[in-house]
Amino acid sequence: MGYIGPRSAQDVVIEGLRRLEYRGYDSAGIAVEADGRIEARKKSGKITNLDAEIAANPLPASSHGIGHTRWATHGGPTDQNAHPHVSQSGRVALVHNGIIENFAELRSELEAQGVQFKSETDTEAAAQLLGKLVDDGATITDAIHAVASRLAGAFTLVAIDAQDPDRVVAARRNSPLVVGVGEGEHFLGSDVAAFLEFTRDAVELGQDQVVVITKDSYEVTNFDGTPASDVTPYHVDWDITAAEKGGFDWFMRKEIYEQPQAVADTLLGRYDAEGKLTLDEIRISPEELRRINKIVIVACGTAYHAGLVAKYAIEHWTRIPCEVDIASEFRYRDPIIDPNTLVVTISQSGETADTLMAIRHAREQHAKVIAICNVNGATIPRESDAVIYTHAGPERGVASTKGYLTQVVACYLLGLYLAQVRGMKYGDEIKAITDELQKMPAAIQTMLDNDQQILDLSKDLMDDRSFFFLGRHVGYPSALEGALKLKEIAYKHAEGFPAGELKHGSIALIEQDIPVFVMVPPQGRDQLHDKVVSNIQEVRARGAKTIVLVEEGDDSVNPYADVIIRHPKASTLLQPLLAIVPLQLFACEVATLLGNDVDQPRNLAKSVTVE
Ligand code: F6R
Repeated sequence: MGYIGPRSAQDVVIEGLRRLEYRGYDSAGIAVEADGRIEARKKSGKITNLDAEIAANPLPASSHGIGHTRWATHGGPTDQNAHPHVSQSGRVALVHNGIIENFAELRSELEAQGVQFKSETDTEAAAQLLGKLVDDGATITDAIHAVASRLAGAFTLVAIDAQDPDRVVAARRNSPLVVGVGEGEHFLGSDVAAFLEFTRDAVELGQDQVVVITKDSYEVTNFDGTPASDVTPYHVDWDITAAEKGGFDWFMRKEIYEQPQAVADTLLGRYDAEGKLTLDEIRISPEELRRINKIVIVACGTAYHAGLVAKYAIEHWTRIPCEVDIASEFRYRDPIIDPNTLVVTISQSGETADTLMAIRHAREQHAKVIAICNVNGATIPRESDAVIYTHAGPERGVASTKGYLTQVVACYLLGLYLAQVRGMKYGDEIKAITDELQKMPAAIQTMLDNDQQILDLSKDLMDDRSFFFLGRHVGYPSALEGALKLKEIAYKHAEGFPAGELKHGSIALIEQDIPVFVMVPPQGRDQLHDKVVSNIQEVRARGAKTIVLVEEGDDSVNPYADVIIRHPKASTLLQPLLAIVPLQLFACEVATLLGNDVDQPRNLAKSVTVE
């Protein structure tokens, strides 16, 4: 959030942060300029903690300021790591959203020049670089262009200079930024919710652009300083609640559509220039990782389904035996684990009691524990030996969507990393999959661009009482997850099965017109393709309505499918990233049509902290 104009900067920025709190809420901070000095206040926890800090240490009156609510990625949610970050000389304050991939390199460069860092964040590298440039004589406008051009990754930066009270500067790449245009005042926000009560006129910044706002103007340029040509003002007619949801009716739907970005962010900064994985956060030595002779994945619900996908991938790439356990079952079965066992826990919230108890049990047996988690500093990562954070951003819908997809991605990264560390013989395959992963955000976007078919299908099937989901190999966890989504928000009876297992009993449930979704593996590249096509025929012959998810160009299913949902070509092991997207949308739309509360379904809570 940024502001310049006649109002109290403190009031406008704090109010804006309250409106943006849904985007992240582990820390908050504000900086204003008065009498040529930066004054910053920041606190971990919710904005009320910041309110208390300001009440104890009031800020001077100011006509411009910046603020931030944080969702930690690099460095835990502490006061020091909260934004704004102030440069060493105290002249510049900066806030940042996103992930700066080359922060370590910038940090060492600045440290070599005598700059002392105060936090563990990637953001501070940008703040200190900006401060150094203005200290050396650059204007804040030139300096923000120079900083933006040096950074790699995803970032929205907003900054002020104590010596230049007439402007607030900002830059963006791969992360959102909107300008609010008022009469004699201007605003900056991650989205329009930040300033909607002051103005409804907005300008959305394009990729790789810088904006400088003053009281009376805004100027948009490219990173190289040339004027931007694609600046289109627009008028916002959403109310504030709709604005928080980005114009979507539900957080869940918004989160489904955020998945290409969430997956891209989870991959960001995890490769070096040669495409090798650099999972620095795994603080378990390569020697210890090489000694591992068994992996046990432990999780609940949707996260458990991500673990099931991981089993196929990790065993194939590393040849280490891998079990997957439901966390609430794990310790009660007296599992066989020892110091050479790697326990991988998956949890979006990082607070799930069943998973936490499983970690404690595993550590008592001296197993190493790696957590895959979305909430920085939560209990589960704190109690684990190492953590791989998914960078999905806050997930508000109770039904997990982007949390799931990013968990699957983090599991792939872990499997590929283990294969790399252990020097596995499938070098070429691992390289190919590593490259293919980078293309997945675009492929997921293609699924979302074809959403109309799913919305229409939802209308057709919304009154059906029972649904089946079938898949084999990694298609099976997708089937389970598709069924779970429908159960939890549409309150429909839904079951996921291994497609080959149905004939051993459950096929008796197939009756006339019952909808059966089937995930088909890649044709010609997967030994199970033809078997799944036979499974489709089996259920269709018994009257099922078949909805078949299959890759582009595969026409083998045409005679047996009532509805065909196409997805871009992908390797078998990466297909779950695509197959689940239409199933999430289907559940969301059916629940909406039925009038259910999609974001807060009955009987459920976002984080389950009891066993
Ligand atoms: C389903 C869902 C739950 C959670 C489960 C684990 O949509 O959200 O099944 O996946 O309760 O929660 P976390 O990942 O926070 O441990």
